[in-house]
Amino acid sequence: STGGGEEAGGEATGGEISLINPGTLTVCSDIPYRPFEYTENGETVGFDIDLVNNIAEDMGVETEFIRTAFEGIQSGVALDSDQCDLAASGMTINEERESVMDFSEPYLDDNLALLVAPDADIDSVADVAGKRVGVQQATTGETQAQENNAEVVQYEDSALMIQGLNTGDVEAVIGNISVMGPAITDNPDLRLVEEIETGEQLGLAVKTGNTALLEQVNESLATMREDGTLEELEGKWLGT
Ligand code: ARG
Repeated sequence: STGGGEEAGGEATGGEISLINPGTLTVCSDIPYRPFEYTENGETVGFDIDLVNNIAEDMGVETEFIRTAFEGIQSGVALDSDQCDLAASGMTINEERESVMDFSEPYLDDNLALLVAPDADIDSVADVAGKRVGVQQATTGETQAQENNAEVVQYEDSALMIQGLNTGDVEAVIGNISVMGPAITDNPDLRLVEEIETGEQLGLAVKTGNTALLEQVNESLATMREDGTLEELEGKWLGT
């Protein structure tokens, strides 16, 4: 429709959804972040990808995933500058981020985990003080490492972070258990010494005030929760 949106009053919904690129849900994701979003055989796959594709299907639109640095996503800049309609990046909902974007209802519970090199003298998160600890830049893992007085080494993505641990650049890394769990399967020498119970929850996010899209996202998530799709996706990608 053209104009007149304000006069449509009386509706409890956020109005008509407008997309940056009509007919396509444009999504910012920090790739690679296995098993949430990564490339396999030239295709972008993962938990978030399936989740968003389901939402787009409900909307009757296509999806396009834009590889975006996590810092740009979590700071709200990617959404504010209209690089994408939606952020899907295994992103933890927290107060700081809530002030710069609008989050969906949570779609997954998560915690942090401490993963260490085989010979490291680290048995709990308290032991990281003064040690070189790898994190993905601007994540909850970074905050945790700082709080425990580690010598924080920032990596641009989670694959580089694991590589840093494998090459001995750092003695330990802190990241989400949902990602560290699968990483250890591929790198059996590494030791997962502690799950840090942060009780974080992951959400999708839209630009502040994009109520119409947010309502659609929440409606689709609610449907996926009720019809078992969400549980199915957890089984498929996280093995839980
Ligand atoms: N859950 C953590 C956070 O929000 C890490 C997310 C990193 N996501 C990514 N796609 N690299 O801080």
